[in-house]
Amino acid sequence: MKNILVTGGAGFIGSNFIHYMLEQEEDVSLLINLDLLTYAGNLENLKDIENDTRYRFIKGDIRDKALVENLFQQYDFDTVVHFAAESHVDRSIVEPEIFLTTNIVGTQTLLDAAKRHWKLEPGNKYSREYRQGVRYLQVSTDEVYGALGKTGMFTERTPLSPNSPYSASKASADMVVRAYHETYGMPVNITRCSNNYGPYQFPEKLIPLMIHNACHDLALPVYGDGMQIRDWLHVKDHCSAIHTVLTKGKIGEVYNIGGNNEKANLEIVRLILAELGKPESLITYVKDRPGHDRRYAIDNAKITAQLGWKPLYTFEDGIHETIQWYLGHTDWVERITSGDYQNYYRNMYDKAEPLA
Ligand SMILES: NC(=O)c1ccc[n+]([C@@H]2O[C@H](COP(=O)([O-])OP(=O)(O)OC[C@H]3O[C@@H](n4cnc5c(N)ncnc54)[C@H](O)[C@@H]3O)[C@@H](O)[C@H]2O)c1
Repeated sequence: MKNILVTGGAGFIGSNFIHYMLEQEEDVSLLINLDLLTYAGNLENLKDIENDTRYRFIKGDIRDKALVENLFQQYDFDTVVHFAAESHVDRSIVEPEIFLTTNIVGTQTLLDAAKRHWKLEPGNKYSREYRQGVRYLQVSTDEVYGALGKTGMFTERTPLSPNSPYSASKASADMVVRAYHETYGMPVNITRCSNNYGPYQFPEKLIPLMIHNACHDLALPVYGDGMQIRDWLHVKDHCSAIHTVLTKGKIGEVYNIGGNNEKANLEIVRLILAELGKPESLITYVKDRPGHDRRYAIDNAKITAQLGWKPLYTFEDGIHETIQWYLGHTDWVERITSGDYQNYYRNMYDKAEPLA
């Protein structure tokens, strides 16, 4: 692993992953962050490493074939970690199209460029030989499996059964990645992780939204009865799992990632209120969203047994640390809620040299 392309590195998990790699992985010569800076991309997440000589930011769209091809030519990537996506289920219900183009076509654009660049005989359609040590990792989600009843867990063999336009687009992308492995022999992995929490999460998602609203004594909107169960994992544990798959994962395999931390949304909201010393009367039940999956739970036996990965955070420590992080970064949250964060790119990068 020398030259890494990270897509969507200005988002929540991608920015945590870039920090993780620059801190933990010695074998990084160059890490390029390709991000379109949609509303969800925030370069302030990476402020502390922007002068690291191993790191470079490129503003661009993963669906832009010429740009992606040019980046492969210029930087000779051997590793791709693909995070970039439209990621918010609520938005996918209102505006499905951008989820399909970004999440499916964007994935195919990256796969095509990687295939062209890595294949030993790019012109030979029967050849399945690739350069040594190259790997494409697709960051997927447990939501592709659909919903569970009161019992059971998702394994890597659970049939895909997505219920929202978001999860349908992610499942479709997974199928495209699988097909490139089966048809062209591409060296790929897919990881399917449960719900993440931690620093730098955009405040439209459950945990940062509830912390923000509670701090401002605003209503805490809870969908339906609040008994939707998610399997929560600290984002740093997700990053270490992706790193483990990159270094030890068997080519062509799918790995589920989860922390065995099933919690109902309402339980999390109550926990946040208790930690902040705010009253439960702030909880406001709102009409449930259509197609809202009731329960997700990940069976992480494959990655723990075969690759030796395990999460380091307990939920109690992780959520406490996360609440403290948001309390210590109210300026970061305020700049997002006011829209100011989008000026950061203009101030920092507008005068940057264009891509050769
Ligand atoms: N957040 C979770 O709990 C979770 C759990 C499992 C898997 N995932 C997956 O992990 C990945 C990252 O999730 P996240 O929560 O960090 O998302 P996010 O919404 O915080 O970040 C997505 C990033 O992708 C960028 N982006 C969007 N469209 C782009 C395009 N066309 N070209 C280039 N960049 C583009 C955005 O600017 C943003 O920086 C996604 O693929 C998501 O499906 C997320």
